[in-house]
Amino acid sequence: MTKKLKLRLQTIVSFIEKEDKVIDIGTDHLKVPIFLIENNLCLKADGSDISKKAIEKLRNNLNENLKEKIELFISDGFKNIDLSKYNTIIISGLGARKILDILNQYPLINQKLILQPTVGINLLKEEIIKLNYKMIDEKKIIEKNKKYITFLFKKI
Ligand SMILES: C[S@@+](CC[C@H](N)C(=O)[O-])C[C@H]1O[C@@H](n2cnc3c(N)ncnc32)[C@H](O)[C@@H]1O
Repeated sequence: MTKKLKLRLQTIVSFIEKEDKVIDIGTDHLKVPIFLIENNLCLKADGSDISKKAIEKLRNNLNENLKEKIELFISDGFKNIDLSKYNTIIISGLGARKILDILNQYPLINQKLILQPTVGINLLKEEIIKLNYKMIDEKKIIEKNKKYITFLFKKI
């Protein structure tokens, strides 16, 4: 039985489509990829984190079935990721400046971006245009008295 996700993470999932191949950058607990795979919501869902400790913990704790389906990477942003394998990039739980640093590491092809910054909403909206992305949708929620905005951006 799949655990229910927090509303903040459910909002991210709501932007995923059946044919998507997803990489969750800065995944930490891997909750979104696990939910996507366990519920057959997309073709592929992998996770990466800069923290070796976080990835090792996941490698030790994931059940065998999920280990076969979900690839894990230790990576600073996109540095160890083959972006050509993914059409969807999730980055959540980081500030806008860090998100933009990651997005600027390599030219993106035409991946859709699902971004949920902790701070710097305006900065993100201003700077994303320079990467030839436009906002398709935004969803605002409040969870435990905290506001979260989740954006869907696509290449122009
Ligand atoms: C607050 S957690 C967010 C976890 C999850 N994405 C979420 O929204 O609940 C931030 C995670 O991003 C990772 N992180 C920070 N900088 C990173 C980078 N440059 N590349 C990849 N992961 C990074 C941290 O190690 C941490 O696990």
